[in-house]
Parts: sequence; structure tokens; C-alpha cells
Amino acid sequence: MEKLKGISSRFQLQGTVESIKPLGEGFINDTFTIRTTEPEMPDYILQRKNKNIFTNVPAMMENIRQVTEHLKKKVVAAGGDPMREALTVIPAADGKLYHRDESGEYWAVCLFIKDTVDYQKADTPELAYQGGKGIGKFQSMLSDFTEPLTDILPGFHNIRFRFKQWDEVLAKDPAGRKASVAEEIGWIESRREEMLRFWELVENGTIPTRVTHNDTKINNILFDKQGNVLCVIDLDTVLSSTCLNDYGDAMRSYTNTGLEDDENLDNVSMNLAIFRGYTQGYLSETAQFLNEKEIEYLAFSAKYITYEQVLRFLMDYIDGDHYYKVKSERHNLTRARAQYKLLTSMEAQYEQMRAIVKEEVAKQK
Ligand SMILES: Nc1ncnc2c1ncn2[C@@H]1O[C@H](COP(=O)(O)OP(=O)(O)O)[C@@H](O)[C@H]1O
Ligand SMILES: [Mg+2]
Repeated sequence: MEKLKGISSRFQLQGTVESIKPLGEGFINDTFTIRTTEPEMPDYILQRKNKNIFTNVPAMMENIRQVTEHLKKKVVAAGGDPMREALTVIPAADGKLYHRDESGEYWAVCLFIKDTVDYQKADTPELAYQGGKGIGKFQSMLSDFTEPLTDILPGFHNIRFRFKQWDEVLAKDPAGRKASVAEEIGWIESRREEMLRFWELVENGTIPTRVTHNDTKINNILFDKQGNVLCVIDLDTVLSSTCLNDYGDAMRSYTNTGLEDDENLDNVSMNLAIFRGYTQGYLSETAQFLNEKEIEYLAFSAKYITYEQVLRFLMDYIDGDHYYKVKSERHNLTRARAQYKLLTSMEAQYEQMRAIVKEEVAKQK
């Protein structure tokens, strides 16, 4: 507590710090709420940034500053409240957007947004709709953002980069596991060309690069007490990428009827009603600015991101489990198989997914 008080004193806070308490929901960072004594003064969120994942925190915070400033202009133009509808980064006393402590840890502070509702899981089409609307609105407000962002996670969702890693790991076979997963390797190889053809459209600009969130879980969206989307938070992973990556990754996690590492493959499938709900919400905000190719490839992006995840889990298994934390020797293989089941469920329902996108786009025109 004393240490945290010391750290918080490095930031330009208003009011007197009364308490600093851990907030338990996030996976990546350590998050604390700072309460101030005076009722009229704001409260704050203090975070220790995970420097294993984010190797360039100063660049990350600068990305967040640029994006939130743009969002605030948009909120003001629409007559909204820029302190509630966008994150506010609080600088340190020296003007930097972070504080680096004696042990080399990075800390950052933002304004605590009061009176909000959050959800840990979107298990109904109605909530999926709200989740899609939240990310769609975020992307829409940033669709005219043109400043370059620093690429703080190089190779993210870039399948060409993943294949390079994949080919290297298979050539080495460091854990001697390759022979036992010949069938699973076949799943990856038989779709390699299809996935590269999509990524070429991103590389040649047919599918444009825009600001994307890259952690589209519903608990990264704050809602107001009436249940309307208020603010998208957790901006550590904002990147220049294709909007389809956000959409596809949301579909990979929202629509799965089972667990990411389900042992029972019968549990795993894609829920088309959730797909429709999210797509409806997403397109209600994005149909106006997405180009024809982006719309054409929306349904495909769900398969693309799920495929990438099969590849990454399987690659980590073959590599001897270096990247993902595992609970058992076969954990990564279990994950790869469960994600592959989800992929095949998407493939089986692909024509319906495409039809839903078409219908929902038509409604917006
Ligand atoms: N500015 C904020 N206002 C209110 N609550 C917040 C704010 N920032 C974060 N939170 C809460 O803290 C949780 C964890 O923060 P988040 O930035 O998402 O960290 P992580 O990267 O660990 O997921 C969020 O899910 C949300 O409940
Ligand atoms: Mg979060």
C-alpha cells in the first residue's frame, strides 16, 4: 500500500488519495483503483503494465494518447461527454504518460469512469449485439484517424509471419512431437494458400489498414446504467491493422459453445445466433464506412482468426510449450483440436454466415 501510494504520488492526481485497492478482473496487467477523499474529485485506475507482453510501454502509451485524443474530439462533436465516453490518460508529474519505478516496472494512470455496468461474458444474442456495437463504434470513430501508430506487437494476426515461424519450428521439431501430429499438421497445410490469399489483400491495400482494438472481449467495454455502450477501455493493444481482425477474433471467442481448451469436442461449435447478434451490432456502426472488400471478407475473417489460433496452439505444442502457459503436456494440443473443431463448424456454416452479413448490410443501407 505504501509503495502504491508512492507510485500514485508520481502522477498528476487531483484530490487526496484515500485508498488504493486491487481490481481483480484483468488477465494481463495488475489493476488498482485509487479512491480520493473529496467527493467532487475524480477516482483513478492505476495499472502496472505487463512488460513481458508489452516490450515498449512508452510507445504503447503514446499510441493510447493519440487514439484517445481523437476519440474525445469525436465525442465532443457528437455532443457527448469526453471524460466518460473515452479513456483519459493522466500524465506523471514529469509530463510522461507513465512512471518507471526503481525495479523497472512501468505504471500508468487513467481516470476511473463511474456508474458503469460491465459484463464478463456475452452469452445471449442481445449482449453479443451490444459487444459488436461497442467495437464497431470504436472503429467507426477512428475510421478517419490517419496518424501512424507504432507497431508494438509486430506480426500480430499476420499469417505470413506465422507461417515463417511455423516452417522454422517444423524444420527443427525441437520436442520430437512432429511425427505424432501429422494429421493436425495436415489441417494447417491444406488451408495455407487460402489464408495467404486473404492476407495478400491486406498487404496490397485492397483491404485497408485502420485503427483496431485487438482485445475485443466484452469486459473491455463499459456500459452506462441504461445498458448503452459508453466507452471502450483496455487500449494497450491498439494497432494499425485490418478491422476484420477485431471482428474475426470477437467471433472466434463469442460464438464458441465450448471452451477454448475443451476436452469434449462435442461441446465445441459455432453458435449462429450469437454470430448474427454480434454482426448486427457491429454493422449498425460500421456498414457506412467499411469498403466492399472488407464486407465481402467479414465472414471469412472469423475462419482466418480461428485458423491462426489452431496454428499457434499446434506450433507451440510442437515447439515444446514455450509461449502459452500449459496445465499439462497435451494442453496446447487439446487447445489446437478444440479450436479446429470450431473452425470446421464455421466452415460448415459458412454460407449462412455470409448470408447473415449480406442481410445485415442491406438493412443498414
Ligand atoms: N477507466 C476505467 N474506469 C472504470 N473501470 C475500469 C477502467 N479501466 C479499467 N477498468 C476496470 O478494470 C478492469 C481491468 O482493466 P483492463 O484495462 O481491462 O486490464 P487488463 O488488460 O488486465 O484486462 C476492466 O475490465 C474494468 O472493469
Ligand atoms: Mg481488459
